[in-house]
Amino acid sequence: MIQTDIADIDKAGERPDGEGGPKKVFVKTYGCQMNVYDSQRMSDALAADGYVPTQTLEEADLVLLNTCHIREKAAEKVYSELGRIRKLKDERARDGHETVIGVAGCVAQAEGEEIIARAPVVDIVIGPQTYHRLPEAVRKVRAGGKVVDTDYALEDKFERLPQLHKGEVKRRGVTAFLTVQEGCDKFCTFCVVPYTRGAEVSRPVSQIVAEAERLAEAGVREITLLGQNVNAWHGEGPDGRQWGLGELLFRLAGVPGIARLRYTTSHPRDMDDALIAAHRDLDALMPYLHLPVQTGSDNILKAMNRRHSAADYLRLVDKIRAARPDIALSGDFIVGFPGETAADFEATMKIVRDVTFVQAYSFKYSPRPGTPGADMGDQVAEAVKDERLQRLQALLTTQQRAFAGSLVGRGTDVLIEKPGRSPGQWAGRSPWLIPVILDEKPGEIGDIVDVRITRTGANSLFAVTA
Ligand code: SAH
Ligand code: SF4
Ligand code: F3S
Repeated sequence: MIQTDIADIDKAGERPDGEGGPKKVFVKTYGCQMNVYDSQRMSDALAADGYVPTQTLEEADLVLLNTCHIREKAAEKVYSELGRIRKLKDERARDGHETVIGVAGCVAQAEGEEIIARAPVVDIVIGPQTYHRLPEAVRKVRAGGKVVDTDYALEDKFERLPQLHKGEVKRRGVTAFLTVQEGCDKFCTFCVVPYTRGAEVSRPVSQIVAEAERLAEAGVREITLLGQNVNAWHGEGPDGRQWGLGELLFRLAGVPGIARLRYTTSHPRDMDDALIAAHRDLDALMPYLHLPVQTGSDNILKAMNRRHSAADYLRLVDKIRAARPDIALSGDFIVGFPGETAADFEATMKIVRDVTFVQAYSFKYSPRPGTPGADMGDQVAEAVKDERLQRLQALLTTQQRAFAGSLVGRGTDVLIEKPGRSPGQWAGRSPWLIPVILDEKPGEIGDIVDVRITRTGANSLFAVTA
């Protein structure tokens, strides 16, 4: 490793190699929205040490991979990327540049120092619980050394968070994520999240409201509340009571500037009446809900430890639709969980037909080390998983297209986000997350305008101002 003189390290904001200009950090994010949020948080923390973000890997002084461990493929991607980065680091070292390489996120938490054993190019391994210590880790590495920091969450974990947000939030767009809850106590038998993200921790109301206010001041109009189990959120309110997510949404709708709210990801068991009532009574809450069911088979739901039946899910959907008839549902599905028979899979196809999803994410079951599912007998053959996934995705795609088609001719509101790809075009966000393309500038960025949908594109809707 190239040693850096410790004196250089104190000169925050300057490169240690005499190249001049601020140090640059390149962050690559894999996995879920929580990682997107965390990547931003890490960039914020590093900005205090003088790092500016770059989109160009080749010019980075610090490379961070914010990784995902959810399926084998996701985890393995990291190692192929590290191979590419090793070459780059070697090339740059020949020119006298030092590049610090860090692995963050769920692979870091799950594999710890094994990562450095397998990919010695890595200087820092840091888990999601200790990002507040990242700047310190980078300084240590630049003084010569390696850092592995995968401690589990401390009790005061969330008290450390706002410090990362002190000062001005730069304008980053009109939509933003806001983490309200992290970790999971559900232990679905296929899932690594309870191990990589630890036990459920909820942030108190005052912190969440303060962050929402800062985002609103920076121009954000739409906030998506994040949590691995976001609807299990229970935070202490200013009145000393425990609030639930429904109550929190009402409070956030009162933050000046915030016009739209969403939350993800929800577990069916935690959809309580107050939250369903928020879908009925709160205009700011978008009529879109990601509510994974994973499978339609009661046997497999049980084996997955989802702790509800297919009928429970259908009843819940009825209740939500009674409160908000136009709500659009999105889901996650796993095919080929151990023991899944042809009949079990047909039950999944049936629940998809019964519910109708406007958006869905479906996966072949991937056995994950340390989870109960990996040790179950009756693992399903890859070819069978392939065939089932294809059939399921064909059905889900048909439903998605039918939904998009049903919107043509309808009016809706769109949050104007940015110029579109073609000159003159503008892009915005519909209530259902489907991007909307407009042929003329319908207002300013951040405005919410009424449009009429004219036709569907591959993954978008075209519209004219109403
Ligand atoms: N907290 C969310 C899910 C987080 S993981 C929830 O409870 O729904 C996102 C999705 O990845 C899951 O919903 C599941 O469909 C999928 N997934 C998780 N572990 C998996 C595995 N081992 N193999 C395949 N898909 C998996
Ligand atoms: Fe994973 Fe289940 Fe927790 Fe979701 S609820 S994060 S799928 S263990
Ligand atoms: Fe992946 Fe971790 Fe998110 S495993 S899905 S990055 S919580």
